[in-house]
Amino acid sequence: MTSALICLALFACADTEADRPAEPESPAASDSAAGDVALGQQIFRFDTFGDERFWTDTLRMHEVIATSVDPMTALGAGLKVDADALPPGILEQADLSDPATTVALLGLDAVVGLKAEVTEDGRITRVGITCALCHSDVDDSVQEGIGRRLDGHPNRDLNPGLILSLSPALQDPATQAVLTSWGPGKYDAYWNHDGKNDPTVIPPAYGLEGVDLETFTGEGPISYWNAYVAVTQMHGQGSFSDSLLGIEIVASPDLVTPKLADLLAYQLSLPAPTPPAGSFDPAAAERGAAVFAGQGTCASCHSGPTFTDANDRLHDPAETGMDPGLAQRGNSRQYRTTPLRGAWQRPPYFHNGSAATLPDVVDHYDAFLGLDLSPEQKAELVEYLKSL
Ligand code: HEC
Ligand code: HEC
Repeated sequence: MTSALICLALFACADTEADRPAEPESPAASDSAAGDVALGQQIFRFDTFGDERFWTDTLRMHEVIATSVDPMTALGAGLKVDADALPPGILEQADLSDPATTVALLGLDAVVGLKAEVTEDGRITRVGITCALCHSDVDDSVQEGIGRRLDGHPNRDLNPGLILSLSPALQDPATQAVLTSWGPGKYDAYWNHDGKNDPTVIPPAYGLEGVDLETFTGEGPISYWNAYVAVTQMHGQGSFSDSLLGIEIVASPDLVTPKLADLLAYQLSLPAPTPPAGSFDPAAAERGAAVFAGQGTCASCHSGPTFTDANDRLHDPAETGMDPGLAQRGNSRQYRTTPLRGAWQRPPYFHNGSAATLPDVVDHYDAFLGLDLSPEQKAELVEYLKSL
């Protein structure tokens, strides 16, 4: 694809290599101001930051939804339905093969992460996305894909590439090839900027209290990254500058920056989910804790209550045998030790999902670090990881 199209379609390209200031500036948004958790929840769930101008005016997703996205298709692309927003009995009456039902659900604010304007006669006029699209799941209590919101849980069923590929504005073959290559649970948060195609799994937005640096490569604090995504990926109307990445976007009014403190407070309030009762063997997990701290050497990096040393250092890809591709695209050039609380909840593992299961994670380290763990020690380590 041509970079001009990337700019046109997916990015406010006000910047070029030549525009970069000589002196790097540090990312502006810090994690300091005290915010309001309840307001932050509203923003996380329902605020589009004005990104309708992109999802509606540029991508014309409202037309796509009205003509071809019935609820079965939507659920198949990993979209989730908030059961609490549904009037009683509505699902029994609804025709789940009719796009009009999707529009009705949007009118009820029941599709997690999508915000639409729907007229009284059932026409969808505007649509935008919110943080919850990628970082909320539901508990499937009504049926798969329909239930109560679980904010902070990564939506690993969501297929953002497939959804984008439906846009009439993104039909050229090269773009289609990239978008359809990502698959469920993955998104590339740099592709529209650097044109490289190396998606990451969508990470959780829970369990981040006490973790100073966010993203797989530790690019910056939560608010830095929230601003990056809201402005450059969701295409909300906001200001974001990062001289190292060569991005300088100034918006007026700025619908992003004033919300970052509340959004931060909400994310910090989201605890990692505790493992379901009976999901691990406590005695084996206790022996696994000793392997984690001892022969496994895991605790040398996964340290402290959050199981990460991210507040002190990052790691070269070669230290843990990771593909260096993603690290080379950001500013840090390294990987952050992933906080492990709730790890049971979110396979696959590592930034690119290269380990399908926790046993695969342990096998990777055993081989790469030459740990010489016995089959029993590996199994105990897995039970411990399942307990976090
Ligand atoms: C299209 C899907 C998508 C949307 C929408 C989205 N994110 Fe993300 N988010 C991602 C991906 C993918 C990453 C991983 C990027 C990386 O590490 O390089 C990420 C990373 C994060 C992280 C870092 C987690 C960690 O432990 O490193 C936080 C926090 C986060 N997002 C919060 C938000 C908030 C708040 C919003 C709304 C302003 C938002 N995201 C919108 C996909 C999304
Ligand atoms: C040298 C530091 C270091 C050591 C030692 C280490 N890790 Fe990691 N760990 C990391 C880094 C960095 C990542 C992120 C890698 C990535 O995403 O590509 C990570 C990621 C993980 C993940 C993936 C979490 C997720 O949600 O994707 C798990 C699980 C994990 N480590 C467990 C372990 C275990 C078990 C051990 C000991 C056998 C161990 N680690 C040893 C640094 C380390």
